[in-house]
Amino acid sequence: MSPIRDPERRFHGRRKGKNLSTRKQGLMETLLPRISVGLPDDEAMLDPQALFHRPKRALWLEIGFGKGEHLAWQAQAHPDVGLIGCEPYLNGIAGLLTHVEEGGIENIRVYGDDARHVIWKLPDASVERVFLLHPDPWPKARHARRRFVGPKNLDDLARILVDGGEFRVGTDHPIYREWTIEQMNACADFAWIGERPEDWLERPDDWPETRYEAKALEGHATYFRFRRLPRG
Ligand SMILES: C[S@@+](CC[C@H](N)C(=O)[O-])C[C@H]1O[C@@H](n2cnc3c(N)ncnc32)[C@H](O)[C@@H]1O
Repeated sequence: MSPIRDPERRFHGRRKGKNLSTRKQGLMETLLPRISVGLPDDEAMLDPQALFHRPKRALWLEIGFGKGEHLAWQAQAHPDVGLIGCEPYLNGIAGLLTHVEEGGIENIRVYGDDARHVIWKLPDASVERVFLLHPDPWPKARHARRRFVGPKNLDDLARILVDGGEFRVGTDHPIYREWTIEQMNACADFAWIGERPEDWLERPDDWPETRYEAKALEGHATYFRFRRLPRG
């Protein structure tokens, strides 16, 4: 079955919030089409370099960028890298566009839907870093299959990451924290970065606070970093 038709892999979040301001609506109409990622509809894979005007040293991917402050920060701190941000929530996309316009950012591309559509179209070993910050926790056990961290998505991320590439997961949710530890321990393609559990509690300097984290609804944030192990 094509993964897009697989009911277990459907997107479950919301796509629309309150009405956009005139300015944001304008950005959705003028800026978004210029920086949107179009996916090939045949068997072809994406050519990440072709997305950017200038050659990029590496490609990074953010899954569920929310209002986009972290993505914008990384893009400005790393102008030699090309970043694809994926977010199905329209008001979030509009938030990111504001950052892109105000910062004159040229190295971000946007996919306004489920990140897995992009992941499935990216070539093997084409991504250097993946960010998954405060994914929806789906705390009820019967919704556990909706959590982004899980065997199928981890296999897909292992495929697209370069050897030695990094996968970052931020969460403030105790259930998601335990779940991530469990799932990552069961996945042979990744190893922890960091030596002691306390390392997870210290924010790395190049990991700015996200909007969701600032609310810290469920307690202390955890900053997980995993290394994609070299292929055999
Ligand atoms: C709790 S919010 C966190 C947003 C942001 N990362 C932050 O920390 O502020 C989770 C976000 O992930 C997005 N999301 C959920 N599933 C996704 C998927 N499969 N692909 C892309 N984004 C997704 C949701 O739309 C939502 O905006």
